[in-house]
Amino acid sequence: MLWFSLSRQSTKTLVQQIEEELRQKIFSGNLIEHQKLPSSRELASSLGVSRNTVNEAYEQLLLEGYIYQVPRSGTYVSQGLAFRKGLGSVPKLQEYKEELQQCQNVIDFKASHPSTEHFPRHTWGNLFKQVCMESEDRLFGYQSAKGAFALRKEIATYLERMRGVRADPRQIVITTGATQALSLLTRLLNKKGDLVCVEDPVTDEMRQIFSYADASIYPVQADQHGMRPELLPQTEKPRFVFTIPSHQFPLGVIMPVKRRIQLVEYARTNGTYIVEDDYDSEFIYEGTPVQSMQALDPDRVIYVGTFSKILVPSIRIGYMVLPFHLVEASENVKWFTDRHSSTLEQLTLAKFIEKGLFEKHIRRMKKVYAKRRKVLVAAIEEAFGEDRIIGQAAGMHLVVRFHERIDKDKLKENGVKAAFVEDFAIEKGLHQNELVLGYGGLDEDEIIEGVARLKRASEERS
Ligand SMILES: Cc1ncc(COP(=O)(O)O)c(C=O)c1O
Repeated sequence: MLWFSLSRQSTKTLVQQIEEELRQKIFSGNLIEHQKLPSSRELASSLGVSRNTVNEAYEQLLLEGYIYQVPRSGTYVSQGLAFRKGLGSVPKLQEYKEELQQCQNVIDFKASHPSTEHFPRHTWGNLFKQVCMESEDRLFGYQSAKGAFALRKEIATYLERMRGVRADPRQIVITTGATQALSLLTRLLNKKGDLVCVEDPVTDEMRQIFSYADASIYPVQADQHGMRPELLPQTEKPRFVFTIPSHQFPLGVIMPVKRRIQLVEYARTNGTYIVEDDYDSEFIYEGTPVQSMQALDPDRVIYVGTFSKILVPSIRIGYMVLPFHLVEASENVKWFTDRHSSTLEQLTLAKFIEKGLFEKHIRRMKKVYAKRRKVLVAAIEEAFGEDRIIGQAAGMHLVVRFHERIDKDKLKENGVKAAFVEDFAIEKGLHQNELVLGYGGLDEDEIIEGVARLKRASEERS
């Protein structure tokens, strides 16, 4: 007789419980193929449930192919189902709790993380609601892969005025962050195994994006002026050269115009493209933002931008400004990847920019980050002495050079987290004593406490 226990306290219905038990027994081989199951009347009476409940479970299992029925004979287990089901590995609760506790106490100088608490969520929420209520019905259907024209128009005007980018709304494709722009570009421009040149050091995330899209990575060393063009490959031609000229990550340096020209000339001579990532150069605390490289040759330089740093990563909106001859192919690759980015979010952002709220937010955040940076620099100088900071006073991170290497384990033991430039380097050994400190997501008290922990870690020798 088939019997198992059912719980009336469970969040699952009796029907669901019967289905699950029978599936499990079939998978584990307790019920073998072509074995006859009890009639619904028999099973209902042995489980103490109504016949309808068993019938419902049998109907579902029949639909899913676990069982079959023979008229005037009965219900049988289908063939070929004995199978060890994957259970998934779940860490023990204890380990999970410890990890959670550790995370809560750690001060994390994570780079490129904006201050999420300053995001104007009420304004954004109101605009989103307005867009949702007032947009025409057709905007809730599929739209152009390029993205909403209203947003592309706002971006073009902003880029032209603030970043010196030569942009027409028709050359802009909206993407799911800069991450997707880079992934789409690699798929568009590269054939499997083609070279992509990247600055070294550069975030491993960027490298992974290219590798996931089947590119081979060719590292080109960066120094205090960014990528060194004389080290670009001369025989094998890359499909594109990836650079962050306005605030290199992680070094934080600016590429001078002479090198920019050399890069563009390299691209012209070799029939390749430059992909310019301009992710956080709005936040510059000394002088004015450097102009984009794209204006030097809009047919050779593809400009990639994002709203993840100026606003917040969760809105997932980025874009690329393409030479006209690449627009249609880019639209296609976007369309066949995810159709287009969310129209409602795009229209909300367009309104946010149009009303002047975007530039207001930049001005406000510049003050917040400038103050955080000032507190961090002062704390570092007090703890470790002067002349330790490398790179431009910009963005949301800085690099500190120590006389001696700080032990990673000591950082962990002292409850502080930060990456070494060396972690981002492909060629190892050149940046061992340089620590990347992101300050965008930390308030002033956390910054001061974080530097105190760094100091303690630096004094403890392993
Ligand atoms: C160098 C660089 N560019 C761009 C981005 C932005 O990526 P996304 O727009 O997909 O959030 C990041 C993210 O951290 C980054 O490190």
